[in-house]
Amino acid sequence: MGLNEETIKSLAQKAIDMRNFSYSPYSHFRVGAALLAKNGEVYGGCNIENSAYGPSNCAERTAIFKAVSEGVTDFEAIAIAGGPEEGIRDFCAPCGVCRQVMIEFCRPEEFMIILAKSSEEYKVYTLAELLPLSFSAKDIQ
Ligand code: THU
Repeated sequence: MGLNEETIKSLAQKAIDMRNFSYSPYSHFRVGAALLAKNGEVYGGCNIENSAYGPSNCAERTAIFKAVSEGVTDFEAIAIAGGPEEGIRDFCAPCGVCRQVMIEFCRPEEFMIILAKSSEEYKVYTLAELLPLSFSAKDIQ
């Protein structure tokens, strides 16, 4: 299913709004995510850092794990917005770990990744574009 412009804009805005909840006292880099499930629900996420650094969690994985922990595993798209506390300067792409978590649950050719600077300025990719030559469940069956 393709996403219409209105849906993309509202996911972009939700990702931007989720930056307000970012717990990032170490990097001061606030990231928000908005994950659209196939059931129509939108799960928000933010990055959550830790003084030991390693246990920190990205915004994207926060959103995905929230959904999966409630039994929801079918996803349409995710919007991501990140930047310093002062504001978003650039597009924020998902890290490698988050891309790998996405491919666990999403069809790479269909799942859309929206990188948002604002609700008007965004770029849309498929997961296949951002994670080519991937390793996933299909490889160990
Ligand atoms: N971060 C995310 O939450 N998502 C991304 O896509 C990139 C990085 C977080 C991790 C860390 O809390 C901060 O941004 C700086 O790396």
